Amino acid sequence: MSEAPATPSPELFDKVVNLCKRRGFVFPSAEIYGGFRSTYDYGPVGVLLLRNVKDAWWRSMVQLRRDIVGLDAAILSPPAVWEASGHLKNFTDPLVDCKVCRERFRLDKLDDPEVCPNCHSTHSFTEARHFNLMFKTYAGPVEGAGAEVYLRPETAQGMFTNFKNVLETSRKRPPFGIAQIGKSFRNEITPGNFVFRTREFEQMEMEYFVPPAEGPRWYEYWCEARMQWYLDLGMPAQLLRLRAHDEDELSHYSAGTSDVEFLFPWGWDELEGIANRTDYDLTQHASHSGENLAYFDQATGERYVPHVIEPAAGATRTAMAFLMAAYDEEEVAREGQGQGDVRTVLRLHPRIAPYKVAVLPLSKKPELSAPATEVLEALQPHFMCDYDETQAIGRRYRRQDELGTPFCVTVDFDTLQDRAVTVRDRDSMAQDRVAIDELLDHLRDRLGL
Ligand code: GAP
Repeated sequence: MSEAPATPSPELFDKVVNLCKRRGFVFPSAEIYGGFRSTYDYGPVGVLLLRNVKDAWWRSMVQLRRDIVGLDAAILSPPAVWEASGHLKNFTDPLVDCKVCRERFRLDKLDDPEVCPNCHSTHSFTEARHFNLMFKTYAGPVEGAGAEVYLRPETAQGMFTNFKNVLETSRKRPPFGIAQIGKSFRNEITPGNFVFRTREFEQMEMEYFVPPAEGPRWYEYWCEARMQWYLDLGMPAQLLRLRAHDEDELSHYSAGTSDVEFLFPWGWDELEGIANRTDYDLTQHASHSGENLAYFDQATGERYVPHVIEPAAGATRTAMAFLMAAYDEEEVAREGQGQGDVRTVLRLHPRIAPYKVAVLPLSKKPELSAPATEVLEALQPHFMCDYDETQAIGRRYRRQDELGTPFCVTVDFDTLQDRAVTVRDRDSMAQDRVAIDELLDHLRDRLGL
């Protein structure tokens, strides 16, 4: 990735949002009905990007480790879970109404708590109320008390309520973790900044259960490991920082939290929180459910309630950060039939890039379609590929640059003679001639996945 500025770049925000719409990353939800209040749909390319972010996380958390197992818990859950977790009581934001324009705001996010950012009235706010962020709905045909359920506001509780099930079936013992990726829902007072803060979003969370005395050590370990994950996927170090929470910022369950922050166009903001949740959750669920959630260590004869270290990241928010970090514009000479001298390129890490390879026959003529299809079908079982045979080749390269595709494979009329293709590198735009029979190995080496 190119050197990125270490100051926020406000114009980058509009550029990325426009690119997302233009190239099929993200669409406003229900757009043909005028859109629906800060909800978004992931288009053909966006779904690949988001999936790659989640796969990269799962790979590092579950696939490459022997101490972490996966879980996919239900989204709907009964009030008892949220009573025990503390969310019914504590998962609130301070809400104020402006008495002049009637707009609502989150008090702790206002630049000036005395001035309404909408109508600029001063001292026009009501007293702050505690607004619970959980979405409530009803299960079954009868509405009302007894049928109430909540959409989970975090995936974490599924790991705590299944702690015993996993312990008994997976042959793990502390220190060990349970990882989950899935949708969470929060009735945010002020969603915004595109997909940064939405009411429906995806989280990637892992609960790591450790002997109590080892909590502080594992907290340090996970802060470092999670920072490294972003760096390994090509995020420039100058756009990342780890910030420890002040005492008054800590969640109701936390004995210590650090945020991985990214330099967004509006400034530093949170990508992920790493929290030391102590034994809060297991103790709460044990006392509310009546289940014994202590762990008995047969080797030492010790019985204890494990402490939990939790790295909790947002998948949708992280996907957006990868786009922002990767966005680049550079002056280039004309390439093929391409128009314009400035090219936009997403310098995404190959693991995150939606397509790894694009197969581009130089012309639509049937004699090129046959070898191009042969190349495509040889690569498809191994990599996510795009295939595009319309427009001038230069324009097609520019399109792939905007999608972040690391390599374009061009099939031309010489291919019919030499059974070779041109491999064009997204970042350097350098072109190499490669034999079709060696293409798969060649791309595998260069992608390094
Ligand atoms: N279990 C702990 C927990 O949920 P959190 O800091 O509230 O902690 C973790 O959420 C991550 O989930 C955040 O760092 C952020 O990336 C993502 N997230 C939270 N609320 C979000 C929202 N409204 N829209 C998008 N992502 C959100």
